[in-house]
Amino acid sequence: MHATAYANSNIAFIKYWGNRDETLRLPSNSSLSMNLNGVFTRTTVHWDDTLKQDHLILNGQDQTGEPLMRVSQHLDAIRKRLNLTSYAQVDSENNFPMGAGIASSASSFAALTVAGFTAAGASEVSEREMTTIARLGSGSASRSIPTGFVEWHAADRHEDSYAESIATPDHWDLVDVIAIVSSAHKEVGSKQGHPSANTSDLQSARVAGADDRLQICKTAILDHDFDTFAEVVERDSNLMHAVMMTSRPALFYWQPASLTVMSAVRRWRADGLQVCYTLDAGPNVHCLCTARDAETIQRELSTLDGVKDVRFAAVGAGARS
Ligand code: DP6
Repeated sequence: MHATAYANSNIAFIKYWGNRDETLRLPSNSSLSMNLNGVFTRTTVHWDDTLKQDHLILNGQDQTGEPLMRVSQHLDAIRKRLNLTSYAQVDSENNFPMGAGIASSASSFAALTVAGFTAAGASEVSEREMTTIARLGSGSASRSIPTGFVEWHAADRHEDSYAESIATPDHWDLVDVIAIVSSAHKEVGSKQGHPSANTSDLQSARVAGADDRLQICKTAILDHDFDTFAEVVERDSNLMHAVMMTSRPALFYWQPASLTVMSAVRRWRADGLQVCYTLDAGPNVHCLCTARDAETIQRELSTLDGVKDVRFAAVGAGARS
């Protein structure tokens, strides 16, 4: 009873920040993202009756403590859904640095969910349901299961908060050119960050406008309207970081080099390049552009102070086993 699954990471255009229910990871607002082709986790799950507990190997290293506990809790959700009693051996690898603003929890929990169900031969579980289970492990993981451009619906009930594809990867040739300004593990991860969202006076305003921004962004994607897309994506990222910076305790993910990149991106756009920025819970800057301008952006980024590395990802497919 074993299976291997691959899941790409994703970058959100309209961000998930804060939950209406922390235990079920029911988000405060709906979000919208694209999968990142080639920025992936590969996970093998082996359900094994002879095991006395779950085991986790992450990037070749045996894990105990918090990482094992979070995976084991997720396996509990899969076990509960399928009435399984076996423990599992999980072997997982990322092909990108963890904890640096390229979401590893998204691809990890998406791959773990798909591998877990596939290894158990559970073909009756739909993609929609798998996205709800992935969500229990990590909110953004729900968006790494469907293909291409993906919307994750906020809702009050577990079964209604699922993710679905709004367009396939070939719909629009967007590229995420990631300016790596630090590859250190982030100090406060999203898991600890979400509960702090409501301590900011700005969170309620951010959430109140989220559906409107999502509709604007979705329509811009469907219409290939880069200017509208760029404006709403930067605004949404700035809103989330404004909430983070005004939470108690305050969370500052931006570094001086992040700001250098953000202002360069705005300058390049004013000069006619199709590019905009967005940042997750980390200092690296995701520069979203059309394939037309990707090489120019990459070249320009590598000349900026504080940019240590530049990576590329086109729009990716959904998780597969
Ligand atoms: C800033 O999905 O990583 O990247 O549910 O606690 O695992 P957990 O959080 P996570 O949060 C992602 C936050 C974000 C924005 C986004 O991807 O929408």
